[in-house]
Amino acid sequence: GAAELGPYRHYMQKEIFEQPRAVADTLEGIQGIVPELFGDGAYRVFKEIDSVLILACGTSYYSGCTAKYWLESIAKIPTQVEIASEYRYRETVPNPRSLVVTISQSGETADTLAALRHAQQLGMEHTLTICNVATSAMVRECKLSYITRAGVEIGVASTKAFTTQLAGLFLLTLSLAQVKGRLTESQEAQHLKAMRHLPAALSAVLALEPQVISWSEDFARMQNALFLGRGLHYPIALEGALKLKEISYIHAEAYPAGELKHGPLALVTSEMPVVTVAPNDALLEKLKSNMQEVRARGGVLYVLADGDSKIESGEGIHVIRMPEHYGELSPLLHVVPLQLLAYHTACARGTDVDKPRNLAKSVTVE
Ligand code: G6P
Repeated sequence: GAAELGPYRHYMQKEIFEQPRAVADTLEGIQGIVPELFGDGAYRVFKEIDSVLILACGTSYYSGCTAKYWLESIAKIPTQVEIASEYRYRETVPNPRSLVVTISQSGETADTLAALRHAQQLGMEHTLTICNVATSAMVRECKLSYITRAGVEIGVASTKAFTTQLAGLFLLTLSLAQVKGRLTESQEAQHLKAMRHLPAALSAVLALEPQVISWSEDFARMQNALFLGRGLHYPIALEGALKLKEISYIHAEAYPAGELKHGPLALVTSEMPVVTVAPNDALLEKLKSNMQEVRARGGVLYVLADGDSKIESGEGIHVIRMPEHYGELSPLLHVVPLQLLAYHTACARGTDVDKPRNLAKSVTVE
């Protein structure tokens, strides 16, 4: 009821602001990286597997896409991510030594459950789920699990479930890296320190809300929007576009910035805002040249830059500076302003934010 909303206008806004707490709860009590965080027998399974196959739908699929970058760069484990509804009907080459990872807020999504059962029928017995509901079918049917502690999520557009999934997937990456001998003690300590800092870092990003509200006033008048990211932040661009289309009904799509000239540049005009996720990483210089391509066509840029990115606001370029540079955990922080952008744009357009038309919170039928 309305009382539970406290100072917030919608559940989605409340859930966005719960993220520091949700991520803190999800990581609570973790003293060190041990495979048993994922259940009894995890060590043996992690020892045995040679690859990861991630299966999910919607926002959960994008957390899987983000995890692929971590699993390959940190744990050095070849990783595939598949949309569950595609995987279940496709002829694939099963690898019994693959770890099948399902990701689901509800644990009841029909396609994800069917994809899991399909993988099992193909002889893949090493199964693990990252799930927000401990009593769900997904948790019952997977051998191993990590329960995120986002708490009940009511808004149809997923927010705190996504960031807590990322926290769980980062832990999975570290555990696999450790079992495979690819994580030194000092690296483990550094990663744990960065994870413990997440709640404070998330709170600092949430404080950017007034700046995001000013962006949303421009977006509310648009028909289309393009989101760009590279590397680890390409899935974050995808998630930002999904959030905007789900609740504001503005057509939005995401591209890895390097693909700009292979198609979407043809769409860029002053009526096409281009959101760019631009952390100060190895790809920043390349991203800056992608941004110039947009400016040269009259496109207006909305840039999420790091404190030390040296990208300034100016004609046709609006910059929000993130409080810090977050390294490998950066996706968890960069997604937050994109959630807020979708939320405030939808509010400005007067849509039903918590219950967008035609969508359901949990899709339990095909
Ligand atoms: C629906 C929801 C999305 C969610 C997706 C997968 O489409 O509206 O927010 O990401 O299902 O749900 P799951 O519970 O499996 O994460």
